[in-house]
Amino acid sequence: MVCGWLSVLGLGKNKNSSPEVDLYKSLDSDKLPVHIAIIMDGNGRWATQRGLPRALGHRAGVDSLRDIVRTCSALGVGFLTVYAFSTENWKRPAEEVATLMDLLAEYLYKELNELNKNNVRVKTIGRIDELPVKSREALAMAEKETLRNTGLTLNLALNYGGRNEITEAVKQIGRDASAGKLNPDEIDENIISGYLYTAGIPDPDLLIRPSGEKRISNFLLWQVAYAEFWYSPVLWPDFRKEHLLEALVDYQNRQRRFGGLHQSKR
Ligand code: FPP
Repeated sequence: MVCGWLSVLGLGKNKNSSPEVDLYKSLDSDKLPVHIAIIMDGNGRWATQRGLPRALGHRAGVDSLRDIVRTCSALGVGFLTVYAFSTENWKRPAEEVATLMDLLAEYLYKELNELNKNNVRVKTIGRIDELPVKSREALAMAEKETLRNTGLTLNLALNYGGRNEITEAVKQIGRDASAGKLNPDEIDENIISGYLYTAGIPDPDLLIRPSGEKRISNFLLWQVAYAEFWYSPVLWPDFRKEHLLEALVDYQNRQRRFGGLHQSKR
């Protein structure tokens, strides 16, 4: 198993020497997170530090996304949810919003072959119907063309906000209760989960936020109740598989108790 991963991750050539290989070798393939969520942050700062326009920071961020999708897929992670555009991001200058929307379409058309080759299925969460038509067409194309893939699900959070998601779920629960389709006394956490965009997807086990920020920023508010958080000062455009491996090793060394006691203390 370990040797197979080494070559898929492109680490095969320097098997015995690199820090990446050491990190990788300390991973337990049976304890990988099923669902990883990432707040892709720091594109603007990365560009500013280099005297470049912010748009080039976002473009460089696409390279990181490609590398992380490839790595998650090679490791056998089930779900990767990335925060690509929040409901608050509309407040940015129109030119930056347009750049992000263009990059999204460009990414989907350019990466389709590789996504299919790696058995990756593309899905979305968020108010997709409010996105520009070009973005919606690219998303519909990618979802349709990867529909039968059974490996990693790449979940793109677009025009997404956690509070908005919960508000919409509550409205729909209210409608279904009024229509007699749902008994209010039977509403439980599973039923609520089933009304969210992420219905049917397990909650994230690991939430990663690069760029030194330590906020949740309205991302997957309900779903991260028991997620392990991992922060990194690395800006998203510099984030690569070695950083993901570092996060995974750290995750595997944590004791997840879900509010209970560690086994040794029972
Ligand atoms: C936050 O960095 C990042 C975003 C708002 C957009 C994330 C988008 C990408 C990585 C590229 C395209 C995505 C797809 C799906 C192709 P920031 O701009 O807030 O950075 P800053 O805090 O340093 O200003």
